[in-house]
Amino acid sequence: MTSPGAQSDTAVTAVVLAAGAGTRMRSARAKVLHEIGGRSLVGHAVAAVKGLQPERLVVVIGHERDTVGPNVQALAPEAVLAVQAEQGGTGHAVAVALEAVGDPSPIVIVTYGDVPLLQTQTLQRLLAEHVSSGRAASLITARLSDPTGYGRIVRDAAGGLTAIVEEKDATDDERSITEVNSGIFAFDAAFLRSALAQLTTDNAQGERYLTDVVAIARREQRPVGALLIDDVWQTEGVNDLVQLARMGAELNRRTVTAWMRAGVTVVDPATTWVDVGVSLAADATLLPGVQLHGSTVVEVDAVVGPDTTLTDVSVGPGATVTRTHGSGAVIGERASVGPFAYLRPGTRLAAGAKIGTFVEAKNAELGPGAKVPHLSYVGDANVGEGTNIGAGTIFANYDGVAKHHTRVGRHCRTGSDNVFVAPVEIGDGAATGAGAIVRRDVPPGALAVSSGPQRHIDGWVTRKRPGTLAAQAAAEVEGRVGHTGLAVPASEETRP
Ligand code: UD1
Ligand code: CA
Repeated sequence: MTSPGAQSDTAVTAVVLAAGAGTRMRSARAKVLHEIGGRSLVGHAVAAVKGLQPERLVVVIGHERDTVGPNVQALAPEAVLAVQAEQGGTGHAVAVALEAVGDPSPIVIVTYGDVPLLQTQTLQRLLAEHVSSGRAASLITARLSDPTGYGRIVRDAAGGLTAIVEEKDATDDERSITEVNSGIFAFDAAFLRSALAQLTTDNAQGERYLTDVVAIARREQRPVGALLIDDVWQTEGVNDLVQLARMGAELNRRTVTAWMRAGVTVVDPATTWVDVGVSLAADATLLPGVQLHGSTVVEVDAVVGPDTTLTDVSVGPGATVTRTHGSGAVIGERASVGPFAYLRPGTRLAAGAKIGTFVEAKNAELGPGAKVPHLSYVGDANVGEGTNIGAGTIFANYDGVAKHHTRVGRHCRTGSDNVFVAPVEIGDGAATGAGAIVRRDVPPGALAVSSGPQRHIDGWVTRKRPGTLAAQAAAEVEGRVGHTGLAVPASEETRP
């Protein structure tokens, strides 16, 4: 099995370690399933190694494996899931991974599932250096002003790598070293196998440390080397929720910066959040306070925001989406949405359609140029081309038991404050009066009215609300204009 892009001399087995508990997160959720940029931490780690087109991809799972496994498989169905039932350390985890694949590729890459900003490009550099130098082991290191918690890189007088010492095992001198282990390694597979077999638990944590492989190589006089990278974010692991937020903000900064470099106008990068699965066209504009999640797409000349959250929404060319919350919707070319709209799954706006202010839509299709401008609920409906729905219209789709559909034809004009009691159909070119409750199908071209004629009960306020400002105001004009309206039977007068 050889993936198309992999060259034979760099055939790689990639191992991602994700079995640990992550107790410092203080969360019931597995650490590696916490998300930044709309993707789990382990998802980021897997995506980075996937970019290498490895011959084999193994993810070591253990803690919370019933949820971690499916998350990995959703992103990488080809991944082999190796179960490390008890977390005996990073060295033990890699041994479990090799056991799961049987015969690994000549080179094994190891990364950690809690290091989300690592990029494929960096792995490629590591791999290239590893291969060209013929080393037994290579790793990525970084220099940190605060190296607390990381394994320290110990070098001899000549600068050669001699060992990695974990914080908990380090002497004071070693703790002052600022070059740290990222946990990202490339190994000669045969050397790795033999070194893993030699690991002991003779350390402060009683674990088999992968990092001890460096000292073993040194002892066996096998060449090892480090790639010191400047971009320390790529080596940073997430151990608690404070770090998660920091890393999330940095990932977002990188994502938004990349989109700006690709021609997207982002007015306020600090308040604009874009998931890694989102795609934006050049000359799209994002106004302040925009969050784009999932597989959202924004096309050329579209303007989104301010203050808009979209999840799995497609925004067509030239469309505008203002102060809107939407998910699972398709907004057509030059369509307009908001301000203050709520789009739920299955909402589809054709070209030039409009969902206006304080409008909620669900499973609703608007034809070209169709408009629902004000204060309405449109659920389970089709609204035909060029139709205008009056302000304050409710598509009553739910009878308390089941949902039903409403179809409004082309070029209809419906009145304000209508209720369409589904299932119901309004024919092409039809109209409805203000306040109509439409329970029966309206024929094409007809006007539907359902409320009775307006009636007036003269003098009602004067009699029933004496002494109020309303009665006083009425009395002031009564002399001038007199009463108007229809005569009513006396019995009606007693009704409020
Ligand atoms: C590890 C390194 C340290 C390095 C740091 C970088 C070791 C011994 N230490 O420390 O040198 O500076 O990462 O972030 O390798 N895991 C398993 N099975 C296990 C133990 C861990 O799968 O039995 C996984 C964890 O889920 C995690 C990764 O390995 O994704 C690293 O484990 P963690 O406990 O976070 O190691 P650190 O103490 O951070
Ligand atoms: Ca860690």
